[in-house]
Amino acid sequence: MKLSFEEKRILEGNEGVARQKAMELLVKYGEALGAERLIETNNVCVSLSAGAYSRLKSPVSESDVDASFSRMYLDSEDPFEIPKAKVFTCRLIREMDPENWQIQGISPERHEMNLAAEKVCARIGMQLMHTCAPYLVGNVPVMGEHCAWIESSAVIYCNSVLGGRTNIEGMESATASMLVGRTPYWGYHVDENRWGTHLVEVEYQPESVMDWGLLGYYVGEIVQEHVPVINGIIKAPNIARLKHHGAAAASSGGVEMYHVVGFTPEAHSVKQAFGKNKPKMKLKYGKAERKKAYDNLTSAKDENVDFIMLGCPHYTLEEVWNAAKLLEGRRIHDNVNLWIFTPHALKTIADQAGLTDTIAKAGAVLMTDTCPCISHVQPKNVKTAATDSAKHAHYMPAILGFPTWFGSQKDCIEAAITGKWRGELK
Ligand code: F3S
Repeated sequence: MKLSFEEKRILEGNEGVARQKAMELLVKYGEALGAERLIETNNVCVSLSAGAYSRLKSPVSESDVDASFSRMYLDSEDPFEIPKAKVFTCRLIREMDPENWQIQGISPERHEMNLAAEKVCARIGMQLMHTCAPYLVGNVPVMGEHCAWIESSAVIYCNSVLGGRTNIEGMESATASMLVGRTPYWGYHVDENRWGTHLVEVEYQPESVMDWGLLGYYVGEIVQEHVPVINGIIKAPNIARLKHHGAAAASSGGVEMYHVVGFTPEAHSVKQAFGKNKPKMKLKYGKAERKKAYDNLTSAKDENVDFIMLGCPHYTLEEVWNAAKLLEGRRIHDNVNLWIFTPHALKTIADQAGLTDTIAKAGAVLMTDTCPCISHVQPKNVKTAATDSAKHAHYMPAILGFPTWFGSQKDCIEAAITGKWRGELK
């Protein structure tokens, strides 16, 4: 791999052992991928999960976390103090809600580990966004900006909707990028890898968040890790719809980038979206395909539901507002837990606007920083869940082990009130 003067200096250890290890890791990783060089980045999203410190014993000190970090992320048995982030770095999702961790069922030991990890993250200069949707709270890459992000739903939004450039990084590679401000130049950093591969002609117009989730889920399953070009959309989608669409496509397949002709920035036309590529496959998306996606996403049979999860990816403020309107003056069923997830920066606004209070008065909880599939915690003894997220409907049965209904936000909130699932594909 060709390295610049500065990169060679770091590799030789002139900026300390942690940055040297980080550069070694990126060079090895890049070479394995066939990257000929590294590229500068000033936008890293990573997590540094407290779960990585699970072997630590209470009381957990910052130096324990440093040592664990050296081993887990930089492959070094010699413990060293983690240096400051070299470039702008945001901490994404973590395992607990800072206010509602006891409701979540997080143990005091795990809470303590999370606090120790948070302290270290703050010390090294990470921005504690604590969300899987950093683009909702101020990290909005511009067209062509090179980033190094983890989290598939964030990556696909960055590439497709914003025109930023990132691959789905792992914790180790993104941590290394944080320390040296570089990432391998390959994959979605390169123009030709961003061109479309599969043409999807839409015959059924998606009109809601649920519809956009179904479209993404159907397309992702077919194209897998390729780049679909969605053609024929008439009405402009919004943030929530594209957020759900991308998260769904990244769950059923490994989609990291899509185009919606006329609406996403690298697809003013079908021709532009495909660049020099010819479509490998042409698909149609009509009523039958929509129904197939819905059936594949619905794993529950029992109409009695006891857990409703909303906010995957984390809700926009508008989604929180809509949920609060649906809950206002009502009370959820005694047998149901309704957990709604949003970034904590947006919850601050929701608090001020009285939305959090409206949600709490209905017996639901507005949570931040985490989600059930990341924390692996959920209310006790869940038998059947429901969600308005195609991504969570895909993962909850697999990760948490309970059957799940998929529907609209309204379907989910009605189920929370009545304890019965009445949603259907209309
Ligand atoms: Fe975010 Fe958890 Fe969904 S990290 S995208 S809410 S699975």
